[in-house]
Amino acid sequence: MTSINRERFLERLYRQGEIGWREGEGLFRAAYSGVYNEARDYIEKAMREAGLTTRTDAVGNLFGRLEGSDPESPALLVGSHLDAVKAGGIYDGPLGIVAGIEALQCIGESGVAHRHPCEVVAFTAEEGGPLGGTFGSRVFAGQLPTSPAAEALDSCGLSPDDLNRAKADLSRYAAYLELHIEQGPVLWRKGIPIGIPTGIVGITRYRTTITGEQNHAGTTPMGERQDALYEAVELLHQWLSAMRERDDCVCNVGTFNLEPGFVSIVPGRVSFDLEVRSLDAAVTEETVEHFKRLAGELPHCTAETDRLVAKPPVHLDDRMQDAVETASRNCGYASLRMPSGASHDASPIAQVLPAGMVFVPSVGGVSHAREEHTEAEGLVHGAEVVLGSLLEMDRLFG
Ligand code: HGY
Ligand code: MN
Ligand code: MN
Repeated sequence: MTSINRERFLERLYRQGEIGWREGEGLFRAAYSGVYNEARDYIEKAMREAGLTTRTDAVGNLFGRLEGSDPESPALLVGSHLDAVKAGGIYDGPLGIVAGIEALQCIGESGVAHRHPCEVVAFTAEEGGPLGGTFGSRVFAGQLPTSPAAEALDSCGLSPDDLNRAKADLSRYAAYLELHIEQGPVLWRKGIPIGIPTGIVGITRYRTTITGEQNHAGTTPMGERQDALYEAVELLHQWLSAMRERDDCVCNVGTFNLEPGFVSIVPGRVSFDLEVRSLDAAVTEETVEHFKRLAGELPHCTAETDRLVAKPPVHLDDRMQDAVETASRNCGYASLRMPSGASHDASPIAQVLPAGMVFVPSVGGVSHAREEHTEAEGLVHGAEVVLGSLLEMDRLFG
């Protein structure tokens, strides 16, 4: 049985991580940016070196293809995303792409018989932002209910027609597999090399705007202020304190904006984006309603909430979970079935194709930070399980 070329795999993974890396800050590689395109060119070059034929779709998703013995059979798709959060790490996304390239190159070089064509994909714009996150994969899967705002598309040089043209013919695909760092502490704490995600949380995000009255910070008596900041902080403290008591969801406020934002002015308006994640859609619904109720009870200000995205929780295909477990066992690696608290490109894909994932440990559970790290051994374990899982999938799927 063929095995991966660890030097080649690690060299490609570390090299792509240098593209957009800022010493002391982390990786800056937003989708559709110059460094993103530089990284995509590097990945396309690696795909071609691996003997794959490449293509880029109308929204910038990059594919590399290895033919199988039956070119008419649907392809096995493997991959992840190439963009990064601001000041992020080098593994969140690219690991799944580079491991996919390595696995297809091994299959091609070894001459091992495989019926299905295999494709590796570098999805674009997975990270949250003006396009809503998991953008490239949602377009591919036809899961973009409404087109993002025109200015968001414009800022990326895209048109609504590009989205239509990039929607995949899903009959050409049999299943999807994504290798990803866990981004949490479970595998690292337990010393288990492979995680097998059973499901991926849903994510619902709202933009909230609190409006009060802008006024002079020195002459306005404290008891007469309609202070948008004060009431926003009170609201968030009340809601987040309640959320911290729950273990069936997680909530976060990652952006916060004051207007007009000057030291001697009582803020007239505050806006922030909040998100709720849960494996249970009813829990998400309940916690959002709780927030809206509190927002409707502000003493002197008014609140408006606009929903930005609502992505449902997904179950990952049982056959795919079994294929990953078999591949892990064949490699001699222990594995653990677990939910994913992070969202992934596998989430929209799982709504249209049998989809599965492989996790490898994140040291300290840290991610979305420059300290994000996985030991080389852990990275290699993940790539070997991807290779083994693809061969299992070739047997499993029609
Ligand atoms: O936010 C997430 O869960 C993913 O890392 N984009
Ligand atoms: Mn990711
Ligand atoms: Mn991420």
